[in-house]
Amino acid sequence: MNKGKLLTLEGIDGSGKSSHVAWIADFLRSREKAVLSTREPGGTKLGEWLREQLLTLPMHPETELLLMFAARKEHIAEVILPALERGEWVICDRFSDASHAYQGGGKGLNHRRLVELELWVHGDESSQPCEPDLTLLFDVPCEVARERIALAGRHLDRFEQEDAQFHDRVRHAYLERARKFPERFRILDGQKTLEAIREEIAALLTEAGA
Ligand code: TMP
Repeated sequence: MNKGKLLTLEGIDGSGKSSHVAWIADFLRSREKAVLSTREPGGTKLGEWLREQLLTLPMHPETELLLMFAARKEHIAEVILPALERGEWVICDRFSDASHAYQGGGKGLNHRRLVELELWVHGDESSQPCEPDLTLLFDVPCEVARERIALAGRHLDRFEQEDAQFHDRVRHAYLERARKFPERFRILDGQKTLEAIREEIAALLTEAGA
């Protein structure tokens, strides 16, 4: 039985989710919780190397899906489960919902395949599966997200270079996941002010036991 909690942050590129990670970590520490912040793809030496390839190299969509889950297996086994067993709160910037949204919704890969990989990678029969306790979905319309990315003026990675229709499918796949798993998903309006969003996050974290 895990003693810690797994908190995942999700949303389309430009949703603003990553800008809350450090604030959430500080908030949890102020509530005397031990915290580990990490991200996907990434979070381990191998995972960060895979991230670099995934964000830059062209590849078959199924290769992309398999590499996302390979990086995730390493991340769960080496970082996430040990931290949860130590009783820490793990803040993970993206997790398997991102594979459902991007590779499932965005790229149209077979749902059954995704579920099979998820069951395999999240845990075997002998242990409790590694599922998020709370998933914060930062929702913004695609035009707003694209405008933010353009304003940032940096080089776009392989996913950010996808067209508006792709990101619209990703957004709707996320919203569909939230409807399917209402017990762990909370949708936040990413167009609200930073202060208003943080107030909501603080309430949700308190409700989750912080
Ligand atoms: P980031 O920009 O939030 O760090 O994420 C990197 C990109 O990787 C982002 O565009 C979404 C994509 N991604 C997937 O396509 N599938 C996944 O399973 C994960 C974790 C990320």
